[in-house]
Amino acid sequence: APTTPAGKAADYLDQRTGIGVAVKEFARKVFPDHWSFLLGEIALYSFVVLILTGIFLTMFFVPSMSLVTYHGEPASMNGVLMSDAFASTLHMSFEVRGGLLMRQIHHWAALIFLAAIVTHMMRVFFTGAFRKPREINWLVGMLLMIMGLAAGFSGYSLPDDVLSGNGLRITDGVVKSIPLIGSYLSYFIFGGEFPGEHIIPRLFTVHILLVPGLILALVALHLFFVVLHKHTQYPGGGRTDTNVVGYPLFPVYVAKAGGFFFVVFGILALMGGTMAINNVWNYGPFDPSPVSAGAQPDWYMLFLEGSLRLMPGQAEFVTWGDYTVPLNVLIPAVVVPGLLFTFLFVYPFLEAAVTKDKREHHVLDRPRNVPVRTGLGVAFLTAFIILALAGSNDLIATHFHMSINTITWAFRVLFFVGPWFAFWITKRICLGLQRKDRELVLHGHETGRIVRFAHGEYIEVHRPLDEQERWLRVNYQAHEPLEIEPATDSRGVRRKGYKKDKRLQRLSRFFYEDRIEPVTPVELAAAHSHGEHDALEG
Ligand code: HEM
Ligand code: HEM
Repeated sequence: APTTPAGKAADYLDQRTGIGVAVKEFARKVFPDHWSFLLGEIALYSFVVLILTGIFLTMFFVPSMSLVTYHGEPASMNGVLMSDAFASTLHMSFEVRGGLLMRQIHHWAALIFLAAIVTHMMRVFFTGAFRKPREINWLVGMLLMIMGLAAGFSGYSLPDDVLSGNGLRITDGVVKSIPLIGSYLSYFIFGGEFPGEHIIPRLFTVHILLVPGLILALVALHLFFVVLHKHTQYPGGGRTDTNVVGYPLFPVYVAKAGGFFFVVFGILALMGGTMAINNVWNYGPFDPSPVSAGAQPDWYMLFLEGSLRLMPGQAEFVTWGDYTVPLNVLIPAVVVPGLLFTFLFVYPFLEAAVTKDKREHHVLDRPRNVPVRTGLGVAFLTAFIILALAGSNDLIATHFHMSINTITWAFRVLFFVGPWFAFWITKRICLGLQRKDRELVLHGHETGRIVRFAHGEYIEVHRPLDEQERWLRVNYQAHEPLEIEPATDSRGVRRKGYKKDKRLQRLSRFFYEDRIEPVTPVELAAAHSHGEHDALEG
């Protein structure tokens, strides 16, 4: 029987819940280790920081649009007519002890949260971690990303300053651009004509209850899947699709993860304590008139802003009767992001269809070994970054003394050309790296040591790869493009579904074309019997 107080408490619990078995089982679970697996953890920990600081903010923030005359710090805002929401944000920043610190940690945590989500997603995409059996967890992740955007957007809108108010005004415009139901939807959301007095209380409920609740539930599901599927691992010696090489959850991983939480918390606190963010008193309360150049949303919303800024205004069509179809808003704010997000949602399924790969994958791809996927990912990021930069076209113009029209036109062209170019270049780089791997496997590393044989020949000594490295570099995804059955069967009857298969085959060829052939054992043997090998031995 246990003698220590902790042991007794554990025993008490175990006898009543039988939890010991589960804990033992779970504690022995092995997790692989790699720095890039920390990105998901950073997302998780910054979310915890958002909840903790957010709870503090709810104690002082007043989600109301009733007008008040503000009395207090800063002097520039004293006596100004503003909403309760804005007044309480000022009060929290200047009068509440630790209030500004909490606001700033909350805001920095939001920026880091979304940055971690996006980079985590990139890690998952470029390593092919979304492949079977993790496709569903990719979808859960996509929902998490969209909920993250919703959390950021709704929080940003709460203080009711000039920037957030103008963000809402743009949102109103976008909602109204939706054909047929637009104006009804806008009235529904704002409880009448924009801005009305309902939107901030409503966003408050969305921000502190609905969205965090959904994120919490989705994160639980997400991590349940991570445990269920087991974590993927990078290729390397001894790692296969049927084993997991790493550390046990307890004590190694628990200690590391627990420590890492405090590192993330500490860095966010340092940022919130030393770096000003969203000083709303400089902007003033919401008023549609004073918005100026240099008004940007937070970084994760910049692509939408840029998309709107790039769209030529001429695309506003008046169709039948009094109905206007504002394609100049609909295309950049609904169609473009819709296409971008659809690509992300369907990509795992698209790739599975094109490769006809039905195997489970627990060993990650090296991005170079899947050049088309890597190229598509970089092309996507290029489009995203170009839109984000376009969302700052005014800042680029003022900083570099350039014409905003030139910049806008340059981005318009880049948006269509850039991704193709990025795709092509990335693919070439990947193939080059594959060739380099091939070279290394066959001939080893150059050492810079030149030796001369007795018969006068000079040769550079190559150091052969060790077992680990050879394994890594030989590990190509050796796939053939899809082969399909002929158009007609033995009796000359045209096969059903042939056209569809043909299309799939074309995509499959595209996915696998320009493949660098993996090193064969014969080639390896030939390289070894080469003169270099003697030099190696020498
Ligand atoms: C794995 C958290 C968003 C897809 C993980 C892991 C954590 C995590 C802690 C395990 C460690 C790691 O691989 O980094 C989160 C949180 C998110 C989020 C807190 C947002 C609130 C996303 C998004 C996607 C995604 C946006 C993709 C669209 C995945 C997949 C795995 C994973 C497929 C399994 C990866 C593997 O086993 O290699 N996530 N994630 N997650 N996440 Fe996320
Ligand atoms: C405000 C983001 C979760 C409560 C904000 C702001 C952002 C934000 C960007 C504007 C801050 C500013 O004034 O500069 C997020 C994100 C969350 C999250 C991305 C993650 C899911 C939460 C939670 C709560 C909360 C869980 C409460 C339990 C608040 C409150 C405000 C606020 C009360 C208004 C205070 C103010 O603006 O000064 N949030 N938040 N947030 N957030 Fe959050």
